[in-house]
Amino acid sequence: MGLTKEEMNAMRRIGSVVAETLEEMRDHLEPGITTRQLDEIGRAVLERHGAQSAPELVYDFPGATCISVNERAAHGIPGDLKVQPGDLVNIDVSAELDGFFADSGASFGVDPITDEQQALLDSTKEALEKAMGMAQHGRPVKLVGRVVEGLAKDRDYTVIRNLGGHGIGRELHQQPNFIPHFFDRREKRRFKEGQVLTLEPFLAMGAKRVEEMDDGWTLRTENGAAVAQFEHTMVITRGEPIVLTRRSDEELDVGQ
Ligand code: CO
Ligand code: CO
Repeated sequence: MGLTKEEMNAMRRIGSVVAETLEEMRDHLEPGITTRQLDEIGRAVLERHGAQSAPELVYDFPGATCISVNERAAHGIPGDLKVQPGDLVNIDVSAELDGFFADSGASFGVDPITDEQQALLDSTKEALEKAMGMAQHGRPVKLVGRVVEGLAKDRDYTVIRNLGGHGIGRELHQQPNFIPHFFDRREKRRFKEGQVLTLEPFLAMGAKRVEEMDDGWTLRTENGAAVAQFEHTMVITRGEPIVLTRRSDEELDVGQ
């Protein structure tokens, strides 16, 4: 299974570019900025490193990054929408460099946000950390869904069931396909050393599915419920996964 040293280095490079892009976009997130302006900031970081937007390259998505506000969970098209105080904004960056892909996402609150919104952000981030704690060679893949759904239920959140983690590497989406973040007893696979994959739980305030909007891209929660997501790309090992889209020792701040 394993990656060669060169492949691993290439994955680290694109992982770091994706992390930097997401960070720079986060740093410009403020009331009044349009999602198109935010996207242009992200595109500039990718271009500076010679990386290409994965959604554009692979899906002809109309933007360099996906920016999804409030009840929009994913695949939001950058446009004239202005960020407002109280919004939850999800930024999802995936990109390619030298034939390798990485993918990361995070939700941020635009102050002032409510305690309920902050708790949703904190819980979703915790759910990703717990999920990553299960991602280890030999362990059942269904443990991811068990810990994420368990945490969600304890706190009266729902897990979006029709979005999942995925293999990544030479392609944006490859084997292993669809890693559920809800508990699915029919899920029989086990993690294997050297696999590169994303985990990306979406927690919501009452929605279990997302549905496509009329623009043909944006996925919104079925009942307009607030939603948050955090995502990392990682390599499976016999111990903790190696997280490729986290910058060295620092973590993305939540809700700032
Ligand atoms: Co993503
Ligand atoms: Co992904």
